[in-house]
Amino acid sequence: MKKRIIIGNWKTNKTQAEVQAFFAEVNPVLAQKKHANWCGVAPVFIHLPLVLSLAKEQMVTVAQDANFISTGAYTGTVSYSQLKDLGVNTVIIGHSERREYYHETDAIVNRKINALLTNGMTPILCIGETNSQFEANATDSVCASQLEKAIHGVDERYLDQLIIAYEPIWAIGTGKTATAEIAETTIKKIRLHLSKLTNDALAKKIPILYGGSVKPNNIESLMAQPNIDGALVGGASLSAQDFLSLLGDK
Ligand code: PGA
Repeated sequence: MKKRIIIGNWKTNKTQAEVQAFFAEVNPVLAQKKHANWCGVAPVFIHLPLVLSLAKEQMVTVAQDANFISTGAYTGTVSYSQLKDLGVNTVIIGHSERREYYHETDAIVNRKINALLTNGMTPILCIGETNSQFEANATDSVCASQLEKAIHGVDERYLDQLIIAYEPIWAIGTGKTATAEIAETTIKKIRLHLSKLTNDALAKKIPILYGGSVKPNNIESLMAQPNIDGALVGGASLSAQDFLSLLGDK
């Protein structure tokens, strides 16, 4: 089985008791399997210490966002350096819900990507087109532009820590998954564009995940595609059993 990266984006879900129940189910299985996959979950900020205390070795604790300012008067935000101080080094950046509901622009995404990478952290950069852009055949140009703007001005030596997640917005939480072939075609083009923006070696090395209604019943066909390195999963990652299935561990 190809080594895969599975990141659960829990969004604004779960109580502390539910977080504990998740790990009570997942930990014994992970301890037995000692699988080579890379997995993690992204809880709300206030649950990060709890997840850090429960997550075993092969499970990475991920944040859902970070402010690009290290410290200062920015009410209601958590900075990249505060996350790093806590022991959280992987952060989802530019999720479509942040872009839509919190007006996060490509310029803001770029500052966040830059802050994380230059401080030795790993951003999971989300890019993807809306339904109308998909229907207008603009998928490739939208993804290329988002990618280009997100890594603009970032020194190439930092880019090997980057992870990209291609998430077509029309497939998020809708039950409408891009077919494995559509996902592969787009991700292949993103990788090609990445190699033009950087170089071949980096473009091969940087993992590209697919996200959007990934479930236990479609993960294997997605993972069978040569350019898909893993998945960023919302809904299905809330269930311990589904999460384990996504890892191919059941
Ligand atoms: P979904 O969410 O798996 O529930 O579609 C994916 C995401 O938003 O990252």
